[in-house]
Amino acid sequence: MAENGKSPAKSTSSADRYTITAALPYTNGPIHIGHLAGVYVPADIYSRYLRLIGKDVAFVCGSDEHGVAISMKAKKEGVSPKAVIDKYHSIIKKSFVDFGISFDNYSRTSAEIHHKTASEFFEKLYGQGDFIEETTAQLYDEEAQQFLADRFVVGACPKCGHEEAYGDQCENCGSTLNATDLINPKSTITGAVPTLKETKHWFLPLDRYEDFLKKWILEGHKNDWKPNVYGQCKSWIDDGLKPRAVTRDLDWGIPVPVKGGEGKVLYVWFDAPIGYISSTKEWAEREGKDWEPYWKDENTKLLHFIGKDNIVFHCIIFPSILKAHGGYILPENVPANEFLNLEGNKLSTSKNWAVWLHEYLEEFPDMQDVLRYTLTANAPETKDNDFTWKDFQARNNNELVAIFGNFINRVVVLTHKYYSGVVPSPSNLTKVDEKTLAELKKYPGIISNSLERYRFREAGQELMNLARLGNKYLADEEPWKVIKEDAERVQTILYVALQIATGLAVLSEPFLPFTSNKLKNILNVSLSAVEGLIQWKDISSKDSLLPSGHQIGKAELLYRKIEDQEIQAQLDKLEATKKSNEQMNKEVEPQKDTITFDDFSKLDMRVGTIVEAEKMAKAKKLLVLKVDTGLDTRTIVSGIAESFTPEEIVGKKVTVLINLAPRALRGVESEGMILMTENEEGKLVFVNPDEEGVGNGLTIS
Ligand code: MF3
Ligand code: ZN
Repeated sequence: MAENGKSPAKSTSSADRYTITAALPYTNGPIHIGHLAGVYVPADIYSRYLRLIGKDVAFVCGSDEHGVAISMKAKKEGVSPKAVIDKYHSIIKKSFVDFGISFDNYSRTSAEIHHKTASEFFEKLYGQGDFIEETTAQLYDEEAQQFLADRFVVGACPKCGHEEAYGDQCENCGSTLNATDLINPKSTITGAVPTLKETKHWFLPLDRYEDFLKKWILEGHKNDWKPNVYGQCKSWIDDGLKPRAVTRDLDWGIPVPVKGGEGKVLYVWFDAPIGYISSTKEWAEREGKDWEPYWKDENTKLLHFIGKDNIVFHCIIFPSILKAHGGYILPENVPANEFLNLEGNKLSTSKNWAVWLHEYLEEFPDMQDVLRYTLTANAPETKDNDFTWKDFQARNNNELVAIFGNFINRVVVLTHKYYSGVVPSPSNLTKVDEKTLAELKKYPGIISNSLERYRFREAGQELMNLARLGNKYLADEEPWKVIKEDAERVQTILYVALQIATGLAVLSEPFLPFTSNKLKNILNVSLSAVEGLIQWKDISSKDSLLPSGHQIGKAELLYRKIEDQEIQAQLDKLEATKKSNEQMNKEVEPQKDTITFDDFSKLDMRVGTIVEAEKMAKAKKLLVLKVDTGLDTRTIVSGIAESFTPEEIVGKKVTVLINLAPRALRGVESEGMILMTENEEGKLVFVNPDEEGVGNGLTIS
C-alpha cells in the first residue's frame, strides 16, 4: 500500500463501494484540533479501514471557498476574497497531506468543475419548477449598502435565545434560521441595525419534502443513526419545515445561472455539499474512473463525516436537493460528532483559542500519530469533550511509549539478540501461549465491530488492548530470564510475541498509519496489507502471520517520550492568548462627544524624535525630554518615567501634539504632548498600533 493508505484500483462488486465525505472546511482560517477530532480523523480511520478490508472507497473533500465567512475574513484583512481562499486552501491542503489524511481527492469549490456542477444542479431544479421565486423584504445595511444574510448579521436566536446566532444558523442549538427570524439583528459589517428592503430570491420549499424526510429518516434510520443526529432531525421535522432561500445578494460566490439572477449568487450551503460530487468527478477524471456509480448506484454506501453544527445541512437540506434532482443516492449514515474543547474552553478561530494543525506539525515533527491517537481517545462522539496538553502527554508517555512502543521494542531487540533477527520456530505451546494467540485472533472482529458502529474511541482503545496483551505476555513469560534455563522455550515465546507484533502492524494502520508503516518496515513485511500477504482477516484465520525463518528488519523506536517542558511551552502559549483576549475584552471607554472637522484640524500633530531624556529630580513619574519636532527642538515633560528609562527612549520616533498650550510642571515648562497608550500589562507605550499588546479601542492620551 502507498504511504497514504490508498489501495490500488481493483474490481469490486457494487456492494463493496463506499463514498466517504468529510465536511469541506471553510478557507477562512487553518485547520485546528477541533476539526480533526470531529471530522477528519474519524473519516480517515474509517476510510483506511474500509480499504484494508478490501472495499472500493472514494474519500473526498475540498475547500469551502464561498459564503460570507470568506467575505468577512477578506474585509477584515483588507484583501480580496481570492487572496484569502488561496492562502488558506494551500495551508489546509498541505497540513492534511502532512498529517496523513488519506483523501482520494482534495478539491476546492472555486474550481471550474464545481462551478459547473453546482450551476447545473440549480438549473435542473429551476427547470423542474422545484424552487419558489419570490420577492420578500430582507435585512439591509444602509451604511454598507448591502443585504445582510448569514454571518453578516447576528442577533438573538428565536429558539434558544443565544445572543450570537447568525442569519442562517444558530450554532448554539443548531437551528437553521432565516435572517429575518433573528431578534434584535445587528450588522456585523457596520454594527448598524438593519432596515428591510425588497429583493427577489429562489427558495427551496422544504415543506414539500416533509413526507419524504419522515419516511427516510424518522422511520428508516431510527436505529442506525446516532441518537444526537436522529434527535436533531426529528425535532426539525416535528417543528415543521419552511422554505429556505438558496440564493443571496452577495458579490462572492457562484453566480445564479438563470434569468433574473444577475448580481446574485448561490447560497453557500446550496453549493458546498455539491462540492463532494465535484470532488468525486475531479478524482474520477484523474484516475480514469467513472464517477457516477459513486453517487448513483443504489448499492454504494454514502457516508458524511461532519460536526454537529452541520447536521441540518447534511440530513435535511442536501438530501432534499438530491431528492429533487433525482437519480442520486442518499447518505446511509451521517455520523456527526459533538465539539471538542481546548483546556476547558470552546475552540475559536477568531479568538485564536486552538491548536493549529500546521503549527503542531512544525512543533512536533514526525508525531502525527500521537495527535491522532489522543484525539481518537478523546473523540467527542456522544458529548462535547476536552483536549488538554497534560492528557496528550500522558497518552503518549503512558500508552504509546510505555505499552505499544515498549512491547515492540522488546520483541524486536530480543529477536535480534537471540536469533539474529530470524523468527524462531515454536515448540510446544503452553496454555498461556494458546490463549494469547486465540485472543489475538479476536481483535480484527472486536475492532471492526466498534468501527462499524462509528465508535472510534472504543476501537482505538481495543487496539491498545492488543498491545497490552503483548506487553503483559512478555512481562509474564520473561524470556530474558528463561533464556538462561530453557533456551528452547524462548523460541516459542518470541514466536508468539512476533505474531502479536504483526497483528499490531496491520490493525494499527487506520489509527496510527505512520506507526503501522514503520512497524511493517521493522518486521520486514510488505507495506501493503491490501496487496501483500497479511490481510485484516488473516489475523483471525491464519495460524502463522510471521513464519519461522523470516528475517526481520532493524530495531527502531516507534515513539519518544514527551518532556514536561514541551507541554509547559504549549500551556504558556495558550496563557498568552488568554491574556491578550482578556485585554481585548476589557471595558472599552465609551466614545467622547462628536467633534467637527474644524475641531480636529486645530490639533497640530507632528512626527518627532526624542533627542535627549533625563529624570526630573524628585519626581518619580516625570522625564524631561528634548524633542526634535522638525520645526524646533523643544522641552516636553512627560509622565513616563515608570515605564521607560531615559536611555531606552533616546532616538525614538514619536507623535507629538505641538500646539498644546505650554504648561509648567514642577517649574519646567512643557511645550507639547507625546501621544501614548497603555498596553495589556498597564505599561505605557508610544502610540504604535503594531506594538505588542496594543488592542483596538485603547484611549490615546
Ligand atoms: N464549511 C462548512 C463548515 O465548516 C462545512 C461545509 S460541508 C459541505 O461548517 F457539505 F457543505 F461541504
Ligand atoms: Zn439557538
